[in-house]
Amino acid sequence: MSIATNNIAFNVEKIRKDFPILNREVNGYPLVYLDNAATSQTPKQVMDAIVDYYSNYNANIHRGVHSLSQEATDKYEVARKKIQQHFNAKKAHEIIFTSGTTHGINLVANGFASFLEAGDEILVSALEHHSNIVPWQMLCEKTGAILKVIPMSEEGELIYETFEELLSKKTKMVFLNHVSNALGTINPIKKIIDKAHEKGAAVLIDGAQAAPHIKADVQALDVDFYVVSAHKMCGPTGVGVLYGKEEWLDKLPPYQGGGEMIATVSFEKTTYAGLPHKFEAGTPNICGGIAFGAALDYMNNIGFEAIARYEEELLDYATLKLQEIEGMKIYGTSKEKTAVISFNIEGLHPYDIGTLVDKMGVAVRTGHHCAQPIMDFYKIPGTVRASFSFYNNKQEVERFIEAVKKAKTMLS
Ligand code: ALA
Repeated sequence: MSIATNNIAFNVEKIRKDFPILNREVNGYPLVYLDNAATSQTPKQVMDAIVDYYSNYNANIHRGVHSLSQEATDKYEVARKKIQQHFNAKKAHEIIFTSGTTHGINLVANGFASFLEAGDEILVSALEHHSNIVPWQMLCEKTGAILKVIPMSEEGELIYETFEELLSKKTKMVFLNHVSNALGTINPIKKIIDKAHEKGAAVLIDGAQAAPHIKADVQALDVDFYVVSAHKMCGPTGVGVLYGKEEWLDKLPPYQGGGEMIATVSFEKTTYAGLPHKFEAGTPNICGGIAFGAALDYMNNIGFEAIARYEEELLDYATLKLQEIEGMKIYGTSKEKTAVISFNIEGLHPYDIGTLVDKMGVAVRTGHHCAQPIMDFYKIPGTVRASFSFYNNKQEVERFIEAVKKAKTMLS
């Protein structure tokens, strides 16, 4: 099978030179990094943006008249605009900087407490990460709202017909991920958003696992909220964004009180700042936000369509090769999926496989992947998850397959 060669525009060996970490060894072997769904690696261009910030204009934003503070503020706001353009938000102030996807979800869940009454219903999908389950459970405890679950099929796809049946006038909100972190399933979010809106329900999409592979257009999707983390898409940890439609963000109360999110403060009464500052209390991760902008520049220069095409080739090749291993069971066989393979080998514990392949330099994630309900569905404790990125190459897929085969021999 030819790979990367039929995709002439995509020069993976050139791209790999941007990622210094790919040159290191782990346990005496060249690193094969296949834990990209947990966190992606960082190209030099993003590291340069970080070094530039701390070397040349490290200062607090929106607070000082001095030049350094102005410069930092300008660059931070330029990054917000880049993110706005990337996700095609109508306005820059619909982009709220957060510490990551979990923060964005909690911000919305906390605010929705003011809009819900006992007996209102919230729909969540069976494919969610804990970060898109627990905040809604907490919201239900606070408000008396009821959490209902859109079930999944053996292939790891949402059962759309049941979603339609569950949806009613009582449904106030629908939450699901764009892409499942544990299985890679790409959910039909446009169809779900449109249907939910017909009933007047708001929709929040957890885009953490989609954003590294798919360029979401929030206006075309007509989504109410879309949340992502920078560290899944070549940016640093500790920063992400919440996109929210202006009318929703205007209605939501602030999440945290503090500096920067106010208009006026007195002991009698405080008034809040407008968007986006109302939701950005305290000194943010300034460097992180700027580096997120640099990461988007980097990925857009390569092009998301080219990235998706190439990753699909990696996925197809790795799936084909893994399936040749006796006792192999792959979880999540949706037709629409990103380059994630969750698997087990009959009779072997995923943790043992993960530990042994690490000894051969191959980094994968093992366990329940913060998605215990999915594991319960399949009646397994966890899986081995290999998640691929555009900087992985065919040789790495082969090293991974060899390592799994060796681990199997050692454990059998
Ligand atoms: N949510 C991240 C993962 O799936 C950490 O690994």
